[in-house]
Amino acid sequence: MSDKAKLILGDKTFELPTFTGSEGEKAVDITKLRAETGYVTLDTGYMNTGACTSAITFLDGEKGILKYRGYSIEEIAEKSSFLESSYLVFYGKLPTATELKNFEDRIASFDDVPEGIKQQIKAFPKNAHPMAVLASNMVSLSAFYEDMCAQDLTPAQKDTAIVQLMGQIKIMAAYAYRHSQGKDFVKSDKSLDYCSDFIHMMTGDKNVKKEVAKALDILLILHVDHEQNCSTSSVRLVGSSKANIFATISAGVDALWGPLHGGANQAVLEMLAEIKDSGKGYEAFLAEVKDKNSGSRLMGFGHRVYKNFDPRAKIIKVACDTVLATLGVKDPLLDIAKGLEAVALKDEYFVSRKLYPNVDFYSGIIYRALGIPTNMFTVMFAMGRLPGWMAQWKEMVEQPGFKICRPRQIYTGDTTNTYKDIKSR
Ligand code: ACO
Repeated sequence: MSDKAKLILGDKTFELPTFTGSEGEKAVDITKLRAETGYVTLDTGYMNTGACTSAITFLDGEKGILKYRGYSIEEIAEKSSFLESSYLVFYGKLPTATELKNFEDRIASFDDVPEGIKQQIKAFPKNAHPMAVLASNMVSLSAFYEDMCAQDLTPAQKDTAIVQLMGQIKIMAAYAYRHSQGKDFVKSDKSLDYCSDFIHMMTGDKNVKKEVAKALDILLILHVDHEQNCSTSSVRLVGSSKANIFATISAGVDALWGPLHGGANQAVLEMLAEIKDSGKGYEAFLAEVKDKNSGSRLMGFGHRVYKNFDPRAKIIKVACDTVLATLGVKDPLLDIAKGLEAVALKDEYFVSRKLYPNVDFYSGIIYRALGIPTNMFTVMFAMGRLPGWMAQWKEMVEQPGFKICRPRQIYTGDTTNTYKDIKSR
């Protein structure tokens, strides 16, 4: 078979090169299409656009496969840790024991944030959403680390950027929460592991149960990277203008906040609570989300890429049962989630549209069991996704042929208007 694609436009035939990825994914390379034919591709919502080549994460939405650097998510979730999987996506290989220890120590060494960042957190109203605080803090770091704002970071600066941001995101997230509660900040404790320290800074209690830290660690692992989703694409887009790393990552936080993306984990919990409080049956609730005029959706269901099942959701569902049993927590919202899922998965509307539970459907119930409040859920997602954003940014700026990302459009507006004086309009 020819490795060229043929495109017939009128009486002319054009040949376009094709490209095959390491997992057999096929693409038509259209980079020269406009120059050769005068046409651009139109793909609203990027339904079928490969915006880059990437060696970080592979996912097969039909088969429900997710791999970080070639390692299956199931194996990583079982055997690895959040910091080790972060190293893996960022550096492209599993660390040796010494490399991992060094990485962990360097992250832990960022055990504080500049005084100005603390003042900024305190200046927010107590009811500010922690994602607003986090996004602002993130971009504000650029005002305090000018040397890290260079247009092109050196390899050593990139090594610092990953450990600095992983260390400081944990602090900024916990401080935002403490402020919302009207409580003093709790200083990070380097002797604790990453997840235990985060819970310690949230609660003020250093005696974090092993099971709690482990459950949080697994949740963060499952969020580490997910190829070119909305927030990662935002990071690549902003980073491609050579905006500094803090501004670039802040863009990821902003994009993640939306309820169709990372904000869904908060929305799921609110939806389950509403079903419980209203006493609405599953069928009645599903009838509502199936009605296009209702404006509501079954949150935590459906995915742009997964059309069979989301492998992360499978792992989370099992973890959810284990965590609740281990902690002796009985959560009526878990029963509602399971009931809703069972009914939806038999419903023609969801079956025909291939809508399955995604990563957010059960994650909130675990966060709740761990004592993490609902409006912090998307912040937890951001903490988990940070290494993925950093890895995708690093890969992009280091790739040969680096270019600013700049999609095209097809203009459909007025063509010729004549300016009228304001009084005669
Ligand atoms: N509830 C009800 N109907 C849905 C849902 C849902 N959760 N998701 C999709 N549909 C319907 C749409 O109405 C549409 O129906 P139609 O063909 O009759 O018009 C069809 O399924 C396809 O949906 P699209 O919105 O076109 O699919 P898209 O790929 O653009 O959206 C998305 C994917 C945004 C995830 C969507 O499924 C959704 O809104 N889900 C709920 C929010 C959510 O859980 N987001 C988290 C995603 S995972 C993540 O970002 C971490």
